[in-house]
Amino acid sequence: MKTKILNPTQSNIDIAAQAIKNGELVGMPTETVYGLAANALDPNSVKKIYSAKGRPSNNPLIVHIADFKEMEKLCYLNDDAKLLAEAFWPGPLTILQYKKDIIPNLVTGMLDTVAIRMPSNNVAIKLITACGLPIAAPSANKSGRPSPTTAEHVYHDFNGLIPYIIDAGQCEIGLESTVINLAKKPYSILRPGKISIEEIRKVLPDVILSENILHEPDPNTTPESPGMMYKHYAPKAKLVLVSGSRLNVSKKINELFHNSESEGLKTKIFCFEDNAELYDSDSVIKIGSSQHLEELAHRLFSLLRSIDDIGVNIVYSEVADLSGIGLAIMNRMIRAAAFNIIDADK
Ligand code: TXA
Ligand code: MG
Repeated sequence: MKTKILNPTQSNIDIAAQAIKNGELVGMPTETVYGLAANALDPNSVKKIYSAKGRPSNNPLIVHIADFKEMEKLCYLNDDAKLLAEAFWPGPLTILQYKKDIIPNLVTGMLDTVAIRMPSNNVAIKLITACGLPIAAPSANKSGRPSPTTAEHVYHDFNGLIPYIIDAGQCEIGLESTVINLAKKPYSILRPGKISIEEIRKVLPDVILSENILHEPDPNTTPESPGMMYKHYAPKAKLVLVSGSRLNVSKKINELFHNSESEGLKTKIFCFEDNAELYDSDSVIKIGSSQHLEELAHRLFSLLRSIDDIGVNIVYSEVADLSGIGLAIMNRMIRAAAFNIIDADK
């Protein structure tokens, strides 16, 4: 199969929608990351997602809708889910509710809840509308790899495996949606995203954060969200995070950098623009301003992919502050680093 990258014209969107209705997979832009879209009501289509991604079948998919009225057909909708959808949809928020039978068990990894979101990207909305179906779409990366924020990233991972990718340029946000379980109390955020817990608490004050957001789940327990179990978002290069006070971090990173260079490893440093002067300029890759973390959110997955393109062996990275979108960034970075984080203050 030859994979075609299509401009987001209405006629191309109709072609892609037809492919989805025929049981194929399509690369779909959203405001968060690109998704690998399929008919959520057809188990055979959904099966193709798991096999194309190499994804474990117990890791459930998000169902995308273009109209709030669809929600009631797919799940047992409670009032709090209505409130949150009203506040944040269309947008980067995924809501879990108890599923109805219309959703195949394969979509939910055999769980009794279904994850639903209404994206704000207008090409995504047009594609879902043209299909006239709920659309199952995980991030369009091979399982374990950084999520795709451009059509080229999707092409890199799925060339030859899917007929079409709709190219709507670079994703606006760059990190996947916030995932919240509203099926049972206490309501908990399973995956942080651009919509922060602070914003959500203005609507539902008692929401908590899942324990697994910054910690490796115990492999002997059942995780609240199967996606948080795996080493994830990882480049081929080794990533090591260094936390602590500004000067201790730079001292530690410079020391680690020289050690690995002297071992013959191609080494780079991820640092905030505002700290670049603390490092050797040839070894630095700037990751945006520490005061505007949206910049890092926007480019994180591209940065992780790009270090493999230039054959880097190891990267030492500064870390983001945990407030607002910083928590979502650190949730991804800590997994990309396989939980390898050094405290420079110790
Ligand atoms: O922004 C996004 O959410 C993107 C775009 C394409 O919409 N999609 C995305 O899908 O990130 P995916 O499959 O890469 O991540 C879905 C996450 C996984 O961690 C999965 O385990 C969790 O949501 N999830 C889905 N359904 C769930 C359920 N019923 N219970 C618990 N976790 C669920
Ligand atoms: Mg994913």
